[in-house]
Amino acid sequence: MAQQKLKICLLSSELAPLAKTGGLADVSSALATYLHEDGHDVRVLIPRYSRIDETALKIEPVAELTDLEVALGQRRVRYSIDRTTIAGRRTPVHLLRCPEFYARDGIYTNDEDEYLRFVLLSIAGIQMCQRLSFAPHIMSCHDWQTGLVPLYLKSTFAWDKLFANTKSVLTIHNIGYQGWFPSWVLDNLALKGAEHHLHQDDLKHGVVNFLKTGVLYADVISTVSPTYAREIQGDDYGMGLNDLLRQRGGSVIGILNGVDYDEWNPATDSLLPANYSPEDMSGKAVCKSVLMKELGLDERPGRPLLGVVSRLVGQKGIDLIAEVVPRLLGRRDFSFAILGSGEQRLEQMLHALERAFPGRVCFYRGFNNKLAHMIEAGSDMFLMPSRYEPCGLNQMYSLKYGTVPIVRETGGLVDSVDPIDEISESGTGILFRDYNAAGLEWAINRGLDLFDNQELWNKIVANGMARDFSWRRQGGHYVNLFKKLSNLK
Ligand code: ADP
Ligand code: GLC
Repeated sequence: MAQQKLKICLLSSELAPLAKTGGLADVSSALATYLHEDGHDVRVLIPRYSRIDETALKIEPVAELTDLEVALGQRRVRYSIDRTTIAGRRTPVHLLRCPEFYARDGIYTNDEDEYLRFVLLSIAGIQMCQRLSFAPHIMSCHDWQTGLVPLYLKSTFAWDKLFANTKSVLTIHNIGYQGWFPSWVLDNLALKGAEHHLHQDDLKHGVVNFLKTGVLYADVISTVSPTYAREIQGDDYGMGLNDLLRQRGGSVIGILNGVDYDEWNPATDSLLPANYSPEDMSGKAVCKSVLMKELGLDERPGRPLLGVVSRLVGQKGIDLIAEVVPRLLGRRDFSFAILGSGEQRLEQMLHALERAFPGRVCFYRGFNNKLAHMIEAGSDMFLMPSRYEPCGLNQMYSLKYGTVPIVRETGGLVDSVDPIDEISESGTGILFRDYNAAGLEWAINRGLDLFDNQELWNKIVANGMARDFSWRRQGGHYVNLFKKLSNLK
């Protein structure tokens, strides 16, 4: 029997390659593409940020979606929605055009009306369905930016029969960002008459929490790995939402992210100077050599290179790196390349590290997709000592690129990296448990020791490269969830 087709409206603040600050972009893009290619009708909506590179895009206005208006408090906001497709794919994407909100420097801002930029995305997503007479089975919402959508469907838009069978799924990519705003914003949220649905204790304390609202009203809450789904229901990782999530425990599910192997595959990656595969690894040495030259690192035979590509924020364990790596560089022979940007304090520590070890450490400050691919390919080991990690994509990219991940035992890192066992020569990476310098130091030392045994190392590398985290596998879990919620076969 042919499968029944789902109708899905997917709302996200990021979508690779158009608008990306982190893994949310990769995941919403690859998930949308998977759903589209699996034959479902997916309507994706993201803001048309002025920083989107539109040179290669064919963007068309949509007659039914031109000159729309929404009242946000006293303010009337006018917008239109255009249509395009993700370059190189055929996945249709809608772009929310509203220059007063999106013609700004970054994807995210610290401006006073930041919340309104995503309230508009949420409401425009619903209005887009109305204008297109598109009755979605699933509203797929991602992170705090679209956290109000489940409540809108149950209040402001509850009158519309179009949504009578719509279920909302809130996917939490990172509980560290909840969208907290002062309660005076309430008048501008288009929630008139529904204010009592918001968390009353929060209002008493003068705040509105967008992600919490989503947790309260979404039909299902998904997050991006099974381990993180468990962790956020406990005190250590729930960041204040743990009790609520525990109460909703039956509706909380963890689905590990997939990897888009069209983008991240060393055998076909056009951003690399040489390609390679498990059958012929010679290209990896070429990548390492070119990378080291480009970064101004001294090449020494047998000296391993450790790499990092990361947002430089507290979550990612950069403090631990800044504490442990200089100590180890004094004692052991390796080089270190790190790409990222973020908190000034962390950037300064990394600049200092580079200055202290010329020729052995390179800190490239910025966002650079090509260099991210080069570091995945050219490094021997990849560090992710995260304090918490909902899923993490880089460790899965590393496995595919034959770069052994050294990770902290948390969230999706646990679900994607298997500990190495020297006797059976099984496993794919090194995990350490406690978030402290001793843990990371132990793990890097272990990596360097194992690297000395090249025969074993090659086996570990091959184990990692054979792992399959494709969307072909992971996307099916979303389809099953969506179908179950919609009573489809
Ligand atoms: P998070 O979403 O928490 O940042 P993930 O590991 O899920 O972490 O995804 C990060 C994504 O962003 C990866 O695709 C990674 O390559 C990319 N990335 C992060 N920092 C940079 C950077 N400075 N330059 C290029 N790509 C980056
Ligand atoms: C978040 C998380 C990361 C996850 C990504 C995509 O930003 O920090 O762990 O992989 O979203 O889901």
